[in-house]
Amino acid sequence: MRHLMSPMDFSVEELEKLMDLAQDISADPAKYAHKCDGRILATCFYEPSTRTRLSFESAMLRLGGQVLGFATADSSSAAKGESVSDTIRIISSYADICAMRHPKEGAPMVAAQKSWIPVINAGDGGHQHPTQTLTDLMTIRSLKGSLSDMTIGLCGDLKFGRTVHSLINALCRYENVSFIFISPPELKIPDYIREDVLIRNNIPFKEVIKLDDVMPELDILYMTRVQRERFFNEEDYVRLKDFYILNKEKMALAKSDMMVLHPLPRVNEISVEVDDDERAMYFKQVKYGMYIRMALILTLLEIE
Ligand code: NCD
Repeated sequence: MRHLMSPMDFSVEELEKLMDLAQDISADPAKYAHKCDGRILATCFYEPSTRTRLSFESAMLRLGGQVLGFATADSSSAAKGESVSDTIRIISSYADICAMRHPKEGAPMVAAQKSWIPVINAGDGGHQHPTQTLTDLMTIRSLKGSLSDMTIGLCGDLKFGRTVHSLINALCRYENVSFIFISPPELKIPDYIREDVLIRNNIPFKEVIKLDDVMPELDILYMTRVQRERFFNEEDYVRLKDFYILNKEKMALAKSDMMVLHPLPRVNEISVEVDDDERAMYFKQVKYGMYIRMALILTLLEIE
């Protein structure tokens, strides 16, 4: 039995197969409409979510399966003090596969160790968010044709943004990828990513504060929200929340085929005037997320 805790749990070859499957599903959804008949997905969300939870549910429903679960910690027995290890043992009796989001780093991993069904990390604190990364990889591969040869700028909250951490890990395995990290000094990438992932693997990167200066170099700009819920005090959040606002003037500095991605939800970091720019791909990205989750469910349930 396999779980998904980090994008590194799949080899590059396995990721290719997963994306091929997602592409086939999107081309011919009817072929897959009954693949999960009689199967149940549990969504155990101890933290708010719109896209991730609903795209998992939509993915399972479109495969013919059913879903159950909870959307907040206070509507589950966690409110009574139950541990995730106990909860997953219970869920293992009710469902065939579980997607879990938790504010504590490592909680889905603890659950996986006690689980009798595959567990998918749907975001653990400020740590990892592997299925968002699968979505991002699928989006880049579909729209750019390849995951190699690019300069990607990641902008915003690089300290607490789990989508950023997972994406860096995953992209390091492709040829000729370089990173530009754009953040205020307080929200730089964590040391373990800089040292253990980038420097150790000789990946080219630079860290800057100003977005305008690097705009012309980018093939992809990955914007992120300042993660209010992970700040220790509101004052720091208020000071940093509008540090970057991508607008038309900034877009004018970029290549004509640069692609803007965002895991969403957006707050202020992308002005709505950018939505109509043909380089804005963040709403398209959402659809890829559903197909890749369909492929993931089939793969972890070992359904042909
Ligand atoms: C992200 C997350 O939960 O980390 N959202 C998502 O799943 N698409 C990004 C965020 O909340 O800022």
